[in-house]
Amino acid sequence: MERTFLMVKPDGVQRNLIGEIVSRFEKKGFQLVGGKLMNISQELAEEHYGEHKERPFFGELVDFITSGPVFAMVWEGENVIATARQMMGSTNPKDAAPGTIRGDFGITVGKNVIHGSDSPASAEREIGLFFKEEEKVEYNKLM
Ligand code: CMP
Repeated sequence: MERTFLMVKPDGVQRNLIGEIVSRFEKKGFQLVGGKLMNISQELAEEHYGEHKERPFFGELVDFITSGPVFAMVWEGENVIATARQMMGSTNPKDAAPGTIRGDFGITVGKNVIHGSDSPASAEREIGLFFKEEEKVEYNKLM
């Protein structure tokens, strides 16, 4: 079954949106297999956002993601990577449709409430960066 890495960013945590965001994915039918409130170190932030290293906003991105706690999650379900991205909406909240998380709660591209893996390869990499094996649960398959 497919898995993805999702993270409520510091702005979402500060604005008390963890419950709202978790609820949307639960109601959709996906299963939460890991979740933790944590502070991101400078090293982890630079590694996680490594592909953006040459972008002019890289410093701002790292400063923001390390500025306060995030809620990191692993979600499982059929086609969860693409569906979660649809539910999140466009990266820039000004282009995100109403009804999506960024469309409903975000205003600026930097503080866009949530991050989600964009491909199976990034999902695997990001889950590995943030979660140890024992931090992910197994559901009873008969449930
Ligand atoms: P995210 O999905 O976490 O992946 C990379 C992030 O870079 C993206 O969400 C945006 O929050 C951020 N980003 C993209 N463009 C800009 C920009 N021009 N200025 C600041 N942050 C940006």
